[in-house]
Amino acid sequence: MVNNAMTADFLRSAYGGESMAHMRYLIWAEVARKEGFKNIGTLFEAISYAEYVHANNHFNVLKEQKGDYTVPAGGVFGVGNTVENLQGAIDGELHEVEQMYPVYLNTAELQEEKGAKRSFHYALEAEKIHAKMFKESQEAAKNGKDYDLEAVYICSVCGYTVLDEAPEVCPICGAKKKVFKEFK
Ligand SMILES: [Fe+2]
Ligand SMILES: [Fe+2]
Repeated sequence: MVNNAMTADFLRSAYGGESMAHMRYLIWAEVARKEGFKNIGTLFEAISYAEYVHANNHFNVLKEQKGDYTVPAGGVFGVGNTVENLQGAIDGELHEVEQMYPVYLNTAELQEEKGAKRSFHYALEAEKIHAKMFKESQEAAKNGKDYDLEAVYICSVCGYTVLDEAPEVCPICGAKKKVFKEFK
């Protein structure tokens, strides 16, 4: 439920941005696999799911605001090699972490929009981790190496992303281990 037009606009734009990130990461996962970076492919696919979780959360905050909208949303375009695609991923995540979500979150706080506040907070915290993992992956790929991981776990409530083992309790949203989805 949303009462203020500005917060509603930001939720729709964030939904658009997350939707594109979801698809873009699936496309870049295929490129990574073709180049022999199996784990970077897994990371892109797992994080694609985290972006779906964010889009789903934003969409559901707006579930009572039915209607047809044209949605302006930023999105990184282009398909290159995996090092280049990871730069696109880093740039997109950093835009969300440094610009987009802090502004959206502050607006939701100012307008006392509880649902939007939670949804933006979950996304902001998860994107910080994504930026870090994509940077580490890019460092590996620049040296011709794959990213070192056994599996990737995504919290299906907030999109929190962690390597190798899911925690008993999600550090962002408090959900239990059983809601984590595994990618390997
Ligand atoms: Fe992300
Ligand atoms: Fe979570």
